[in-house]
Amino acid sequence: MKKIPNKIYLSEDEIPKQWYNVRADMKNKPAPLLNPGTGEVMQFEDLRPVFCDDLIRQELDNDTPFFDIPEEIQEYYKTYRPSPLCRAYHLEKALDTPAKIYYKFEGNNTSGSHKLNSSIAQAYYAKKQGLKGVTTETGAGQWGTALSMACAYFHLDCRVYMVKVSYEQKPFRREVMRTYGATVTPSPSMNTEVGRKINAEHPGTTGSLGCAISEAVEDATTHEGYRYVLGSVLNQVVLHQSVIGLETQTALKKYGIEPDIIIGCAGGGSNLGGLIAPFMGEKLRGEKDYRIIAVELASCPSFTRGKFAYDFCDTGMVTPLAKMYTLGYDFIPSPNHAGGLRYHGMSPILSQLYHDGYMEAVSEEQTSVFAAAEQFARIEGILPAPESSHAIRAAIDEALKCKETGEAKTIVFGLTGTGYFDMTAYEAYNDGTMKDYIPTDEELEESFKKLPKINR
Ligand SMILES: Cc1ncc(COP(=O)(O)O)c(C=O)c1O
Repeated sequence: MKKIPNKIYLSEDEIPKQWYNVRADMKNKPAPLLNPGTGEVMQFEDLRPVFCDDLIRQELDNDTPFFDIPEEIQEYYKTYRPSPLCRAYHLEKALDTPAKIYYKFEGNNTSGSHKLNSSIAQAYYAKKQGLKGVTTETGAGQWGTALSMACAYFHLDCRVYMVKVSYEQKPFRREVMRTYGATVTPSPSMNTEVGRKINAEHPGTTGSLGCAISEAVEDATTHEGYRYVLGSVLNQVVLHQSVIGLETQTALKKYGIEPDIIIGCAGGGSNLGGLIAPFMGEKLRGEKDYRIIAVELASCPSFTRGKFAYDFCDTGMVTPLAKMYTLGYDFIPSPNHAGGLRYHGMSPILSQLYHDGYMEAVSEEQTSVFAAAEQFARIEGILPAPESSHAIRAAIDEALKCKETGEAKTIVFGLTGTGYFDMTAYEAYNDGTMKDYIPTDEELEESFKKLPKINR
């Protein structure tokens, strides 16, 4: 038995050359997007005013198991991939657990997270189509940063609507995006019709990903040569993020490691969807079995307290309807510091898998998440992003259960990014001023009442 190193690195040749489409192995496919006006299934032509053509093809394809990754994307991937699969020896020792803990670290690039895996792909297809630029939303700022980097690389204009609370909390994150050439606007803004409407209806709102999406879609559809790109939720994004899971699978196989539990934080579901994709494929084909756990915010609990229903992907009701676990398009979560997890909905792929019993979900309060983040930083050295720290919390909890039962389970979790721009949140935790917030059933019921009535 080879000694497992602290970091399992693959060579550049081992970076995946194809993305894996988990939908091909799903018996119950994710439900199709619907036109909110007519309730009809959205076809290729209907989506063209909003999304890039090749990305729509990927979005609608439930059957092709593998998509070739274009050479230019592979070349860019090589600038920061493969990412290491780390063995958390120090954490295991500190917890005194028989569990073996691994994490796939996606924070080793300037954008600081996994988001670059999809932004490169999306910018590439926008350029290939001859577009002038793209618009998007960003919550924590990682997606906006990743897209700014990709647009700089492919010489595309990049317009980012940044959730107001993050815009104010993270001035340096905003400046990084501007440095890469993006225009950054706090959302809801007064630049778009939908932004003005949201500001009038929710005065003083700190915004949400749902609001920012509405603004970015309006900006793209009202400007020639622009399309909207999204950093999570969509099937295409989960497809691009499958590089995380494919590399993890290759690294584990090198040392004959079989995971028992795979854990990821879930905002819109892209990192988790990507990390679990090949493992879920094995599970769906009946070849293997794994426990798969999504970790979400207690203040924005889409899986654990949401409804599986058709809903808008945005607050302004301008996007197609997606069938997903949702808290309601109008739900504005409390200003939790894990901005990237403050989204009312969830990937339709993961929603279907969760609904069909292939995965579990837990929700965590932020003070407990930051306790895990600090413990991890002090022991393993990496300063984690608040979003990623949700996965750390759950991994530590599972490892502590192993300590009680004496089981030496193998736990793999996704460490999606670094938290250097999240120091206001760390400061609140260190000062003891961080508050937990859990929405009441009444608040959620109010929001559920507004779900569109769709009989499908
Ligand atoms: C570091 C980090 N991790 C995780 C997420 C959650 O997104 P997703 O669920 O799409 O992976 C975000 C979103 O902004 C993020 O910035």
